[in-house]
Amino acid sequence: MTDRKKVTLPTLFKKVTNHEPITWLTCYDYPTAFLQEQAGIDMILVGDSLGMTMLGYESTLPVTMEDMIRHTQAVRRGAPKVFLIGDMPYMSYQPSVETAIRNAGRFMAEASCDAIKLEGGAEMADRIRGIVSAGIPAIGHLGLTPQSVSALGGFRVQGKGALQAKKIIDDAKALEQAGAFMILLEMVPDRVCKLITQRADNCIIMSLGSGPDAHGQLLIYHDMFGLYPRFRPRMAKVFGEAGKVILDGLSSYVKEVSDKSFPQPENWFSMPDDEYDELQNLLK
Ligand code: KIV
Repeated sequence: MTDRKKVTLPTLFKKVTNHEPITWLTCYDYPTAFLQEQAGIDMILVGDSLGMTMLGYESTLPVTMEDMIRHTQAVRRGAPKVFLIGDMPYMSYQPSVETAIRNAGRFMAEASCDAIKLEGGAEMADRIRGIVSAGIPAIGHLGLTPQSVSALGGFRVQGKGALQAKKIIDDAKALEQAGAFMILLEMVPDRVCKLITQRADNCIIMSLGSGPDAHGQLLIYHDMFGLYPRFRPRMAKVFGEAGKVILDGLSSYVKEVSDKSFPQPENWFSMPDDEYDELQNLLK
């Protein structure tokens, strides 16, 4: 275990004041959470992207609250000090403010989260307001919002045109005014992200593929280590080819078991000769 101090809301706002970028990654399991905590990551998002990265669905839509709670609990066990965010899955907040508050409350009570995140602009401001008035810190998510990928016409940059960019800027202000302490901008042009960051009064702006001018950066863990087999988004720098390392190891295992070079004596346990002799007698 590391001797890090718990990352809190004041820690995050202090980083903004000191112009220190905030580091944020997705994570879905205990051993990865343990490594991220040791590496000094500020924030972890247990994203509903786990539907794709961990469960093999083609989108995030089939993910349930039960899936989210189970994975978020595991992450919290591995990373007790990070600022932990539960991602509200599809239909856990869209139906009503009350549904949103109840499910946000589950993340806090059952998985020891520090905050929740939900997708959408001004139309979700009442959900953010309700959640915040229940005492739960809330994060908005604008730009490419995967739960609306069908309505958005696919996984593509949002806000390239002036009108669409203006809507994203207005949505960011609506979420901030509803009480969101942070907004994630996913796949929004860098200049739009910069404008939103400059206009934020008491709200932290984070970038996923939206350029360097936000208060910090988020990446999807599976993208940064080449662990997602279906595609590699352009915005995700690969920091290590872990997928390739694992594949090489798996192929070696298959080869060594097949050619009987594994296991070797150091990989098994033996029994003292006298005990073995006695066992032979017992079996007679
Ligand atoms: O589910 C997730 O990981 C997310 C990111 C794409 C921001 O919401």
